[in-house]
Amino acid sequence: MGATEKIYFYPVWLRIWHGINAIGILLLIFTGISMQSSLDNSVIGFNLIINIHNYAGVIVTLNYLLFFIGNLVTKNGRYYLIKMKGFLKRPIKQAYYYAWGMFHGETYPFPLSEKRKFNPLQKYFYVIVMYLAVPGVIITGFALLFPELIIETVYGVSGVFMTAIFHSALGFFISVFLLIHLYVATIGKSPTENFKSIISGWHHV
Ligand code: HEM
Repeated sequence: MGATEKIYFYPVWLRIWHGINAIGILLLIFTGISMQSSLDNSVIGFNLIINIHNYAGVIVTLNYLLFFIGNLVTKNGRYYLIKMKGFLKRPIKQAYYYAWGMFHGETYPFPLSEKRKFNPLQKYFYVIVMYLAVPGVIITGFALLFPELIIETVYGVSGVFMTAIFHSALGFFISVFLLIHLYVATIGKSPTENFKSIISGWHHV
């Protein structure tokens, strides 16, 4: 068995951000789905569901500032930088490992270290979700809270309707990301290793 090393990957501020974000987004997904569905909402009440959705949205937004500023002012931000060299080759190599290599005893193509916290595929997903999807869902969400700010019609289609479609589509994308995120987090030395790391801050490599 190879020697293991402990790396402090998740500083306190990042763990606080992640915990609040996870709970907030789960609440947004559940209340978002129940607002859209034709299910009977009388158990919790439609107004309460809207209130929870709005408050959770504001908390996730303020919390997002912690992530954004934290990544600007600490070295955590450098893990999100994408290099042009091997732009496609590297994530494809990782996808091949997930689809084939790991079931056939191949070695992990991008071992984690102080310099590399994410594999290339994971990095792309985190960048897309954290720098495009989450800001997008926040902006469209606030626009829907203040619909008077939205352009009335875009190419003859209601601006509010278009904004609502974008908001739901991004919410759906984040929900799918979350499912993949949870599955991928179980891949490692043991299925619980990554979950322990995001709580303790320390990761065994
Ligand atoms: C029940 C909910 C969640 C659980 C159990 C969970 C679990 C984890 C775990 C175990 C890690 C560390 C290992 C890794 O990087 O894969 C992690 C990191 C991360 N998660 Fe989650 N997650 C959840 C929700 C979310 C959501 C909703 C988002 C974004 C919308 C998210 C975004 C991230 C990001 C960006 C990181 C890397 C942070 C960094 O190291 O800079 N997670 N999560």
